Amino acid sequence: MLDLLRILKDRAVKALHSVETSAELAQWQNTYLGRQDGELTKILRGLKDVPATERKTIGQRANEIKNELEEQAELRKKTIEERELISALIAERIDVTLPARTLNSGYMHPISQTIYEICGIFQKLGFHIIEGPEVETDYYNFQALNIPQDHPARDMQDTFWVEPGQILLRTQTSPNQIRIMEQTKPPVRAVVPGKVYRNEATDATHEAMFHQIEGLAVDSSTTMRDLRGALEAFARELFGPHTKTRFRPSYFPFTEPSAEVDVTCNVCGGKGCRVCKFSGWVEIGGSGMVHPQVLRNVQYDPAIYRGYAFGVGVERIAMMRYGINEIRLFSQNDLRFLRQF
Ligand code: DAH
Repeated sequence: MLDLLRILKDRAVKALHSVETSAELAQWQNTYLGRQDGELTKILRGLKDVPATERKTIGQRANEIKNELEEQAELRKKTIEERELISALIAERIDVTLPARTLNSGYMHPISQTIYEICGIFQKLGFHIIEGPEVETDYYNFQALNIPQDHPARDMQDTFWVEPGQILLRTQTSPNQIRIMEQTKPPVRAVVPGKVYRNEATDATHEAMFHQIEGLAVDSSTTMRDLRGALEAFARELFGPHTKTRFRPSYFPFTEPSAEVDVTCNVCGGKGCRVCKFSGWVEIGGSGMVHPQVLRNVQYDPAIYRGYAFGVGVERIAMMRYGINEIRLFSQNDLRFLRQF
């Protein structure tokens, strides 16, 4: 019987060498070490016919062989698992060198680009950049700016009311003059970019929503020459060194004196074209010296302080810079238009 065990062991070891996969290994374990029909179990079933004196030796030997085979099977298992892992890694390999799908990267809207550029120029001239609310009170949008309830100037700015007579969508960025002065002592130098709203019919040059940039400078010695100098420096920086500026007398309730600001048309260089309506000049905004009553409204003493203010239209400036003659293109979200900037 010891011979039988030895032969069995040799056969099992040999067979194990040709086992290549986990499935084959399970099969091998079943064949040689299986509890029910395994070869070893079969041999041990004959143990009852062996004389009692030999039984112990044979039993021990059978146990040893079983342990040895199990040990070798374990080693084989490790080798197989390693090999299977490697081939799985190779089979499931991801080729990271494939070129990625291209993503369309977005970029700034031409109006935002223009706002950033304008504010950047004023920043270099020493102005802070500040923002204010788009939903305003009647007080900030009109009254504090010297436009009382029954003032005819209100007719120029048809208003979207949130609560009639009290809360509105700001019609101009000028209310931020008041907000800034209420919160700061002079000297003040700030620009405020933002959206404004007017309840108007739209056409090629008018929209119900557009953008302005407000400017304000207050100090003890501020003059109209400073206003003119600042706007001239700004226009030259934005449109080029040959740009000229022109002030036309005008009226705004919150400035005195007031002026409308024109720059030479940079589409035609001042010769006259469709964009400047053949005048050679394009109006970019309003300006003036802050009205003494406005200063009093924010507890600034007009005997000590003077200031200048201006407000420019961003769409107008962008239209001139890019030679666009239809304002509504900016808000229509047509990529064929937007991709050109
Ligand atoms: N807020 C005025 C408007 O929308 C523009 C303006 C004019 C702003 C004169 C100013 C200014 O700061 O001084 O028509």
